[in-house]
Amino acid sequence: MTPESIADLERGLEALAAAGLKRSRRTLETAQGARVIVDGREVVSFASNDYLGLARHPDVVAAVRDGVSRWGAGAGASHLVCGHFAPHVALEAELAAFVRPSPGAAALTFSSGYLANLAILTALAGRADAIFADRLNHACLNDGALLSRAELDRYPHGDVAHLARRLAASKAKRKVIATDAVFSMDGDIAPLRELSALAEKHDAWLVVDDAHGFGVLGEGEDAGRGTLAHFGLASERIVYMGTLGKAAGLAGAFVAANPAVIETLVQTARPYIFTTAAPPFVAEALRASLAILRNDAGRRAHLFALIDRFRNRMRALPWALSDSRTPIQPIVVGANAAAVDMAGELWRRGFWVPAIRPPTVPKGTARLRVSLTASHALADVDALVDALADLAPRFAAVGDT
Ligand SMILES: Cc1ncc(COP(=O)(O)O)c(C=O)c1O
Repeated sequence: MTPESIADLERGLEALAAAGLKRSRRTLETAQGARVIVDGREVVSFASNDYLGLARHPDVVAAVRDGVSRWGAGAGASHLVCGHFAPHVALEAELAAFVRPSPGAAALTFSSGYLANLAILTALAGRADAIFADRLNHACLNDGALLSRAELDRYPHGDVAHLARRLAASKAKRKVIATDAVFSMDGDIAPLRELSALAEKHDAWLVVDDAHGFGVLGEGEDAGRGTLAHFGLASERIVYMGTLGKAAGLAGAFVAANPAVIETLVQTARPYIFTTAAPPFVAEALRASLAILRNDAGRRAHLFALIDRFRNRMRALPWALSDSRTPIQPIVVGANAAAVDMAGELWRRGFWVPAIRPPTVPKGTARLRVSLTASHALADVDALVDALADLAPRFAAVGDT
């Protein structure tokens, strides 16, 4: 007989499936890219966050090989024990100089963005403090806030006036504003200038999670520097988090901020202290990917041409065009089942576009998340929009029921 503890889990899983919320993992049988073989089938993928196509770039792959030859496979320990290597130090210096959230800022690398956000929020805030978070923030900012035990005040998406009132009313000892810079499921950009002004006014920290802007946003000399460069913003109150597993094509994350913030993370942040360091070859290869990300203007230009093409062509289709000027282009269909069915139809036509459902997005806003990358050709975008046009009569009518 099945033990009650297992039966209980099975009932939970059945309830998820009944609500159309069961998730499944597809298996890639080739390297990341625009064309991948997945579960035995070749598809054009609009699913990854490999925005610049660096995950399989020959120079990055060669840097991984060289890095492994020189530094071996694993770090062997946490950073504070004996896992802190010369490539980590060099990468941190390069990232700090590149992103420069404020003059003299330092940087600290992490093995994932999830850990970096837990580290930032638990190090900056505790029981007597308050964290003000955009309602559409990524789950790991919320998890960091919960772990910190600070009061968590979630403000309506992008509502600066609401946030200003909440900050003014707050009696918290330390105040921390936390926001995605580019919202991961919507692709729109947070009003960082206004948020930074509020941080100054209320003596608050501004935690900027630029997982989806780093490597993508910024122009000219600032190409790829991310959302701070997009706004020409710098402040000692900004704690900047960028991830290295998306546009940078490898894995990990970093925090760049005033050296006092960085040293506080090293000394007190449990998600930094109590985990094995990322392998040094990853840090070494990231230096190669950083060089491409900064210097290969053609990749970003192509990516933005794809974004324009997608948006221009989608105007003719019945779905409301999102606000996004970034590679994340959501098509909101509303009902969970409609999003899953539409993703299934696209899959049958050779396109991999994930259906995103609650709790990743608010109830009633299930969507297809189209993610464009420099590996795509204009013809890939055209083919996807043609397929969407084909499906419009069936799915646009579903609306947001
Ligand atoms: C906005 C945002 N922040 C943080 C993360 C976490 O980063 P990582 O995948 O490196 O853990 C993600 C995605 O994974 C994200 O979309």
